[in-house]
Amino acid sequence: MTQDELKKAAACAALDYIVDGSIVGVGTGSTVNHFIDALAGVRTRIRGAVSSSEASSRRLAAHGIEVFDLNGIESLPVYVDGADEIDGSFAMIKGGGGALTREKIVAAVSERFICICDASKRVDVLGRFPLPVEVIPMACSHVSRELRRLGGEPRLREGLVTDNGNLILDVHGLQITDPVATETRINQIVGVVTNGLFAERGADVLLLAGAGGVERLLAH
Ligand code: A5P
Repeated sequence: MTQDELKKAAACAALDYIVDGSIVGVGTGSTVNHFIDALAGVRTRIRGAVSSSEASSRRLAAHGIEVFDLNGIESLPVYVDGADEIDGSFAMIKGGGGALTREKIVAAVSERFICICDASKRVDVLGRFPLPVEVIPMACSHVSRELRRLGGEPRLREGLVTDNGNLILDVHGLQITDPVATETRINQIVGVVTNGLFAERGADVLLLAGAGGVERLLAH
């Protein structure tokens, strides 16, 4: 199977976790695009979706799935999203698509985070994938200096402005052995909106697609 076929298999498996009559939290990225397409096939079972990016909102709307404003929602039973890396504790690096802040907000509201990945995303130690950090534009140099003090090598993602009007620094060279501590430390830098470590609120279920099928793994 190709990597894209594996992404699609993980995405389709997530349909089993949808709660009938509910609003579904929807992430961003190529794996989630497969999930949105699969969701279209069962759209009469759900009220609609809350989306983590303009791109996902457009794709949902094109399928006739109503997109709700998160501020009008009291609870979300399920949030489905991909990851750039996921470790054994189900802490993740996310934000390869630049949607990390909205993803983190929707994940925070949801009761269950279902992570959909192909097997290449599973790692022992997070950090080979550069850690995305969303930054208020005027703070970019300051935040870069502070990230270097933490041992990282930040690089501005050229040509990208987030849905929130901010910039992304991709931080190379980090070996993240304590994801909660690193997430907390980087978020304390003035000018950081948030970083792409999802450790404080990690995944609850991992649907990991490999050559042998989709493994369904629960967080400990
Ligand atoms: C988007 O900002 C990211 O957090 C994605 O969830 C992550 O990059 C995974 O993307 P793919 O599904 O495209 O690999």
